[in-house]
Amino acid sequence: MNSQKEISFLNPVCDDAPQIYELIKSSPPLDLNSRYAYMLVATHFAATSIVAKVEDQVVGVVSAYCLPESPQTLFVWQVAVDSSMRGKGLAKQLLEHVLKKSPNARWIETTITPSNSASQKLFKSIAKTLHANVEVLPFFSKSLFKEDAHEDEELYRIGPF
Ligand SMILES: CC(C)(COP(=O)(O)OP(=O)(O)OC[C@H]1O[C@@H](n2cnc3c(N)ncnc32)[C@H](O)[C@@H]1OP(=O)(O)O)[C@@H](O)C(=O)NCCC(=O)NCCS
Repeated sequence: MNSQKEISFLNPVCDDAPQIYELIKSSPPLDLNSRYAYMLVATHFAATSIVAKVEDQVVGVVSAYCLPESPQTLFVWQVAVDSSMRGKGLAKQLLEHVLKKSPNARWIETTITPSNSASQKLFKSIAKTLHANVEVLPFFSKSLFKEDAHEDEELYRIGPF
């Protein structure tokens, strides 16, 4: 991927769903969900989600939605950046674009496994930029994942900002 080319930040459209699926598939340790789930991201949750594109290629994605019972809380579900584009601030830029699209948000929530230090650093970095606190709470216990080998998913709550 040529990093010199211009990057566009856009709300996803349904036709992006197959590329979002492939990007998540190539971004361990993220859980790969069904193709249908990414079609929902690109339709029902398109207004609060963002893709980064170079020409027509999806090179980054943040899927997010406002919590139905707490609309000032933006829940960030998955963040992925193409491996050739990492380490250049793209994930942080994606999150900044997501926040611009949700001007009423005062909190970000996300879940992160204890071993995903890249994701922890990313969210702590965005909290620092927002001058906001980060609270880490237990959320989905690994026992809920049953036969899947999966770590706990801890809740990171950032805000208010
Ligand atoms: C996590 C991921 C999205 C980061 O993307 P990225 O574009 O490389 O991240 P950025 O360059 O925007 O970095 C943002 C911050 O996180 C830090 N960071 C990112 N990756 C890191 C790593 N592997 N190790 C340590 N710190 C890291 C950066 O140093 C930066 O901190 P700073 O703003 O204080 O300088 C990317 O590595 C990825 O897609 N990983 C696989 C999927 C995944 O784990 N997603 C996260 C789940 S929510």
